[in-house]
Amino acid sequence: MRFNFMHGGRLVDYEFATGRSREELIDFSANLNPLAPPESVHKAIARSLRRVQEYPDPLSRRLRTAFSTHVGTSYEEVFAANGASEVIDLFLRALQPKRVLVLEPSFSEYAHAAKRSHLATVSIAMPADFSLPSTEMIEQLQKGDVIILNTPHNPSGRFYSRSELAIIYEAVREKDAYALIDEAFIDFVDEGEQQSSIPLINEHLMVVRSFTKMYGIAGLRLGFGIGSKKMVEMVQGMRDGWSVNVVAEEAGLAALHDYTFAAQTRDWLREERVYCMDRLQAMNGVTVYPSAANFLLVNGIAAGLNVSKWQERLLALGLFVRNCDSYGTFSSGVFRMAILLRRQNEQLLDALALELGR
Ligand SMILES: Cc1ncc(COP(=O)(O)O)c(C=O)c1O
Repeated sequence: MRFNFMHGGRLVDYEFATGRSREELIDFSANLNPLAPPESVHKAIARSLRRVQEYPDPLSRRLRTAFSTHVGTSYEEVFAANGASEVIDLFLRALQPKRVLVLEPSFSEYAHAAKRSHLATVSIAMPADFSLPSTEMIEQLQKGDVIILNTPHNPSGRFYSRSELAIIYEAVREKDAYALIDEAFIDFVDEGEQQSSIPLINEHLMVVRSFTKMYGIAGLRLGFGIGSKKMVEMVQGMRDGWSVNVVAEEAGLAALHDYTFAAQTRDWLREERVYCMDRLQAMNGVTVYPSAANFLLVNGIAAGLNVSKWQERLLALGLFVRNCDSYGTFSSGVFRMAILLRRQNEQLLDALALELGR
């Protein structure tokens, strides 16, 4: 059986493929917080069910007020949407850029969103260490283009600080172009909020945030866009006003009022990431890239790993990793794993050790 999904988290596909219920499956292919949703969000979801007969607020006013306070920006500079994916789509539709510059590899939805808006895409290859190819990006950038960057970067987990990104922001402004910064995983980064580009937003710079990963509400959907007042007004004027439903709104408000959960997650993640990295680094021929996020990119080419074949054996155990061959830049020996709970990580890492010893 061949798994070549463009995204992780396709539990329904796995259910169909394995004939097993999703409760028996452990999914390392989507990068969702295994401690989530927090109790506060669970309770809010249960309470909100009373409201499902109502239409949601098309302006998401309570959510935008709480989120703007949380990130220290003004209400008029944020909008809520049906996940970060919708935010990206809306920004592209509003900007109507000349071209969309994306890094290769990166989240496949950037290119898909560009295609949906009939925009040409320019791919820029990343160096092997996933550092930012700033010179090339700036050389390629033309007036009216938008460049989409992601920090921490999916799939590598590498984090680009605000000062690393500053040179791009400067070029974007000088060339009268745009930068869209996807911070979908920044909640997992130690001191991430201090490194966010939100305080720098202007007519040329926009930021994307997601609540689906940290708060474990991928099925409910919630994301935020942060941009200039003019940009947010433009987005609000051309969209479906009901894409953030009443349950997502209550869940988001509860998450924003939960002042401990994200910090507790980061405390847990710091240790668990070291455990996973240590075990991977102890395996001969395996390279694991430094990650600031809740996932790891693992290269087993030198160890002779064939992820597609391994995936078939993992399937029998109910385990799924993200085969990275669909990114185009990787060969068949590279995969990405979410960092889950210890016993789950152990199961996957034991399976990998066994596979490499075959
Ligand atoms: C880098 C990146 N940005 C955005 C998203 C989309 O997030 P959401 O679930 O909020 O639409 C993903 C989902 O995997 C992602 O990896």
